[in-house]
Amino acid sequence: MMPLAHRRILLGVTGSIAAYKAVTLLRTLRAQGADVRVVMTSAAKRFVTPLTFEVLSGHPVVDNLFSDPSGLPHIRLPEEADLILIAPCTANRLAKYALGIADDLLSTLLLTTARPVILAPAMDGAMWRQPALMHHVETLRARGVTVLDPESGPLASGQWGEGRMPGEEAILSALRARLSAQRDWQGHRFLISAGPTREAIDPVRFLSNGSTGKMGYAIAEAAVQRGGEVVLVSGPTELLPPAGVEQVSVVSAEEMYQALSLRFPWATVLIMAAAVSDFRPRKPLSDRKIKKDQWNGEPLELERTPDILAALSAQRTHQCLVGFAAETEDVLRHGHDKLMRKRLDMVVVNRVGGSESAFGSETNDVFVLTKHGATVHIPRSSKRAVADRILDELHRINAPACTSEFLPSS
Ligand code: CTP
Repeated sequence: MMPLAHRRILLGVTGSIAAYKAVTLLRTLRAQGADVRVVMTSAAKRFVTPLTFEVLSGHPVVDNLFSDPSGLPHIRLPEEADLILIAPCTANRLAKYALGIADDLLSTLLLTTARPVILAPAMDGAMWRQPALMHHVETLRARGVTVLDPESGPLASGQWGEGRMPGEEAILSALRARLSAQRDWQGHRFLISAGPTREAIDPVRFLSNGSTGKMGYAIAEAAVQRGGEVVLVSGPTELLPPAGVEQVSVVSAEEMYQALSLRFPWATVLIMAAAVSDFRPRKPLSDRKIKKDQWNGEPLELERTPDILAALSAQRTHQCLVGFAAETEDVLRHGHDKLMRKRLDMVVVNRVGGSESAFGSETNDVFVLTKHGATVHIPRSSKRAVADRILDELHRINAPACTSEFLPSS
């Protein structure tokens, strides 16, 4: 696998002559598999045009707080990234960050995030040695920010000294170190269900629902990137399994039940994001396609499918259990009922139906209800960002209780 495969990097480019080096850095990050979004300051745009970064990143460059239709780019952008890298980082940018100044998009988004931050300073040697600047570097390092040391060599002033933007190898090695430290789910085994199920009426017709599987796949991707081992049991979807995830394809609720039951003793965490059909035809009406003129008006008799989550909850030994609730109204009350009834550690409550429906959307807006009575709102963001927040909350309440020490050997 490429070293930075599927890692999401927010690249901040500030107004230094070294901004041109951010172009080749972006190409290297992309070549290593990273998904990079670029934020430029207004000074950076005097050195390199946004178009260069747009073409190479495949995403629009965001350069001000007010250009985004969401209205909240300073919150959305860091939430959708695994790491923030500022390269080149000017003396001004470094000082603003240390002092908590928020007067443009890049400085403001740095104040909203707990994601790892790496700064690759570039400035004149005399500026780098200023006591004020050294003090800011110490402050930032003490707060957990990685401030790389600039390199020595010829500077833009024609002088020789320390102040050149660190080389690509130093930046990449810091990136890899910070990203691999984010493996808070290492040692855990995730069993995740996703997508709809299909309940056959005849060989060509079925009962199903509008789930696309995006939320479950996003959780699988987040879990594997945070160090977990992941088996994704998926109903029929258009999606490809995330890198590093083992996928088991199923069609009906019964097949999903069998696939999950088999692997349940292995798992430390079960996340039921699938929209399992609650009903199926009592018996498939025919082995052959029912021709419409053969149908003589008899009703389609339905029966309940197994409640997979409730059944596995009754068999749990050490697993953490997370359910989803798709509701059209009274979402918190129904979610709470499911938490109690199915004896879960957590329920993620979605609203479905209407223009804000979770089904098929790229974004989601959910409430997380925990067994300790907490209600956490995760405001609308990409499903991948919501997946990380769900795993953050689950880690907070439950990770210590289902560590591998408690597991039977696999
Ligand atoms: N679920 C399941 N097996 C089913 C139906 C649902 O495991 N046959 C799981 C879903 O994957 C989800 C949770 O149960 O994690 C809640 O599903 P939902 O259908 O919303 O809830 P129900 O408990 O079936 O209640 P209701 O249909 O009354 O809303």
